[in-house]
Amino acid sequence: MQTIILEKTTSTNDYVKKYVSGKENVAVFSYEQTGGKGTKGRSFSSKKGGVYLSVLKFYNDFPAENAYRIIADTAVAVVKTLAAFGISATIKWPNDIFVGGKKICGILTESCVENKNISYCVTGIGLNVNNPLPDDLQSIATTAKDVLGKPLRVETVLATLLYNLEKPQDFSLYKEYSCVIGKKIIVTAFGRQPFTATALSVTEDGRLLLDSGEVLTSAEIKLV
Ligand code: BTN
Repeated sequence: MQTIILEKTTSTNDYVKKYVSGKENVAVFSYEQTGGKGTKGRSFSSKKGGVYLSVLKFYNDFPAENAYRIIADTAVAVVKTLAAFGISATIKWPNDIFVGGKKICGILTESCVENKNISYCVTGIGLNVNNPLPDDLQSIATTAKDVLGKPLRVETVLATLLYNLEKPQDFSLYKEYSCVIGKKIIVTAFGRQPFTATALSVTEDGRLLLDSGEVLTSAEIKLV
């Protein structure tokens, strides 16, 4: 896959969309972002030292109902990448990667759906490697450097990530790497009071099964 390397951009997700008309898969990496985007309209702190990568991929006959597989495969690729550097990470449903109870990576997918099929998807990955984190994130986020006590070469992490992203991943690994399945969680779902439940599994279409029988499509969860 063609990989474009930038010193700085607002958001690699936005930058890679310039290539949509080319119909070729492409990856865009930036050493820093000035307007990094997170899920739910949030911003994503993207100071120099992290891996900020967006992959534009075109699909044929990929049903939109399977969209979650893109996030799941990406999450598994990130966990394998961190493992290659001696970091044991887990996946927090739906799209965060955690180490020692703190977030180390977030994933943001933006898909184009035509006739119920995904025609292309931009998968953005923000992986904290050596980048400084703002004060307000110190208690909830971490970096590979903090975990290992030494910096990593960003280019080596990027190459390992690109390698893992190219390989098909097994959904069973997504469940194996989950830090949520079998655990008690506090669920905050839109328009509802937070409640406690045990997460039983994640379905292949990305929904979280609770012990109450409820199936969550989207919610904020916290481990108890
Ligand atoms: C999240 O944790 O809410 C998702 C964060 C996704 C951040 C990545 S960094 C590369 C790509 N460009 C962006 O602007 N966002 C994604």
